[in-house]
Amino acid sequence: MSAPSSDAFRFAHAHHAEIAWLSQNTNHLVPPAAIRRALDEAIRERRYEGYPLGTGDPELLDLVARDFATTGQRPFLSAGGTEALYMTTRALLQPGDEVIASDPSYLIIHRFVDLCGARTVNLDIYAPPYRLTAERVQAAIGPKTKMILLIDPLNPLGSGYPREEVRAIAELAHDHHLYLINDVTYRDFSEGHALAAEFAPDETITIWSVSKNCGLAGLRVGGFFAAPELARSIAKYNTNDLGVNVLAQVAARAAMQTKSTWIDEVVRQTRANGARIRDIVLAVPGFTLPVYPSHANMMVVDVSATPFTPEAIQDELLYQHRVFVRAGNYLSVQYGGRFVRLSFSNPPADIDRFANAFPTAIDALRSKVPAPRAA
Ligand SMILES: Cc1ncc(COP(=O)(O)O)c(C=O)c1O
Repeated sequence: MSAPSSDAFRFAHAHHAEIAWLSQNTNHLVPPAAIRRALDEAIRERRYEGYPLGTGDPELLDLVARDFATTGQRPFLSAGGTEALYMTTRALLQPGDEVIASDPSYLIIHRFVDLCGARTVNLDIYAPPYRLTAERVQAAIGPKTKMILLIDPLNPLGSGYPREEVRAIAELAHDHHLYLINDVTYRDFSEGHALAAEFAPDETITIWSVSKNCGLAGLRVGGFFAAPELARSIAKYNTNDLGVNVLAQVAARAAMQTKSTWIDEVVRQTRANGARIRDIVLAVPGFTLPVYPSHANMMVVDVSATPFTPEAIQDELLYQHRVFVRAGNYLSVQYGGRFVRLSFSNPPADIDRFANAFPTAIDALRSKVPAPRAA
């Protein structure tokens, strides 16, 4: 039996300096100098002794607003997109409400929906085009529907939404008076990305984050955009009344100030890594990639035609090779037993590690699987 994934995380964190971290869609490619300089200065000034401005550093908020200019809205700052997602579901959902979502999906949001006494209606998207379509969303709308969850690009599959599909789904939200959560955490990795707020500004809650684009996942900075009245009703559920971590805001501001100078290279290297991973994985019989190329910095590797479970592959790579990929079970109710997810905003040396480890790990697993009995 394989170890529970909390054990995998405990092991990975205990050995973090040796781990090629391909398991959480984090970004290890952002040049650190500007962020380090800003943090050094803030620490020298002992900014951590005082509370931050409760509403967030105005310059950081200006930079985020500029980045999302097409929304025409003011960002709300929270401790990561996760907190914004929690506040949004808490504020807008009542027991009995339904949220149209997908499977696979980023299921943590589904859990927040459940906590409100509401439920998600999970459209099965583990088949082409591996994302929602306006047609299927429309067919799923019923009397209890209150919200649509549009994660674009989508964790874990890496699928992205064409502009016209975003528009069509946003128009459905508008026509049926539904809230639309548009989680765009991975937006910067996607070409020609469209924000739903452009098409349904009154219904859309845009979730933003600097965890993945700016490589600041550990600092927990993100938030939401919404039309003023809607934003006020969500902001009532803010528990971070005394503000988001002051050093995290300093780092986020430095990253956003410099983003235009490095983001293209981050995305280029990410895509080059993705292409290498495709070649490495497809060279081993039985493994397939449902979505390629990814519009984000992660992809799903389907293992269902092999004799190995996702957990066995995760554990072999982690414990024997210090390469951390993630079994799919926390990302899909129905299909979690069929895939592992790999992320790849990493230095090329981490991909070299994966290139060496993957075929060796699969050979080792093969030697453990009993050979089929001769007829
Ligand atoms: C779709 C999606 N939304 C939100 C988050 C969480 O973002 P944050 O680190 O800003 O809380 C993640 C993290 O993996 C994610 O995949």
